Amino acid sequence: MLSAEMNDRLTAVRAGTPAGELLRRYWHPIGYSTELQRPGQTVKVRVLGEDLVLARTQSGSLLLVQEHCAHRQASLLYGYIEGECIRCPYHGWLYNGAGECIERPFEARKDRVQRKLIASYATHEIGGLIFGYLGPEKDKPAFPNWDILVREDGVRHFEVQDDLACNWLQIQENAVDVTHTYYTHSKYFERLGLSDQSGFGLPFQRFGFQRFEWGIVKSWVYKDAGRGWGNLMVFPNMLRILTEMHWRVPVDDTTTRIFWLSFTPTDSAMPHKANEGPQIIRQPKRTDWNGRYHMDTFMSRDAMVVETQGALLDRSHERLGASDRGIVMFRKLLQEQIAIVQAGGRPFANIYEPGVQMIDLRQWMGGYLPMSCKPDPTFHQTKDFSEVFDDTHEEYEVPPGPMESIVGAPASACQ
Ligand code: FES
Ligand SMILES: [Fe+2]
Repeated sequence: MLSAEMNDRLTAVRAGTPAGELLRRYWHPIGYSTELQRPGQTVKVRVLGEDLVLARTQSGSLLLVQEHCAHRQASLLYGYIEGECIRCPYHGWLYNGAGECIERPFEARKDRVQRKLIASYATHEIGGLIFGYLGPEKDKPAFPNWDILVREDGVRHFEVQDDLACNWLQIQENAVDVTHTYYTHSKYFERLGLSDQSGFGLPFQRFGFQRFEWGIVKSWVYKDAGRGWGNLMVFPNMLRILTEMHWRVPVDDTTTRIFWLSFTPTDSAMPHKANEGPQIIRQPKRTDWNGRYHMDTFMSRDAMVVETQGALLDRSHERLGASDRGIVMFRKLLQEQIAIVQAGGRPFANIYEPGVQMIDLRQWMGGYLPMSCKPDPTFHQTKDFSEVFDDTHEEYEVPPGPMESIVGAPASACQ
């Protein structure tokens, strides 16, 4: 349970709010390269409660500025790209990538030009995704080169679903909720007569959580498959499952967009051709005409639980149990990192020195892992259990009960 004040502290995403300022210290995906294939194209981006325009300039670079022109607030989404600048379609004010107005065609006073009049932000494009950084320039971290985003020994694709109508924290807390997989997923496969190929249905006896350098690593002891660890909660708003990475990007306080990257390793290098981004696979609607969730996919079921909690879950009414210790650990981490930012420091799970070619998250995964994606044949476990976990590992024993009677996939289904 959280006080209403603490709930607001951890969930609000606008600039100037505690969590909003923390989230602004990380790079977030804001679009796909394929949306901006030609110079002159623009797309609207709403992220962290800010309305922005992302544009491909004449040189092929990117420009990310606030949507509304400083003059009389018309939308720059319909602006003209001129070189590396964008011109407002209303009265023609011209802005550069730094947000400076460098031309006002109908104004005599030329001394007013070259002033920063609109917000502008840094971008980084890699692996078919476009990222933005909305925080202070002096605290800008190096871009984190996640392994499956930069590897060339395979192909990437994206799975796109409708935005979720709820606050980002509900979705991210689900990433440290390991018991939900029983009733939300496995029992629903059973109820609908579908076969469960995920491996989430295998009974487990213990589960645990521990902080690691990128967030929280989870552990399980399975009745029939031994010990496993991984399925990482990458701080502050990512989930890593074997060869998938999911970013839960706040659009605003009550809307969240999921960027879902899936990487399929191959034996030979298959770099994408220039101007040909990874495939985007549009996922089916999660609900029927009446708003009832289909419940036949992971996306539909997870959307049901997080959206039905409310657009912004009131955590002053919840009753947490011992099995929610991953959620408690995550909230403590959030509070701690918010305090660091408020004190003028830099939050963790970021790189502040450039030059790290690849962050290989595979080393934090091992043993039997439940998964919803194909295993990685190049998967190499470089750390054993004792190197990942120490005495801060919080473990929980599953009491006798429903897990004993679960009808799930055999371990071999996912190997
Ligand atoms: S509103 Fe943009 S130039 Fe007037
Ligand atoms: Fe789930």
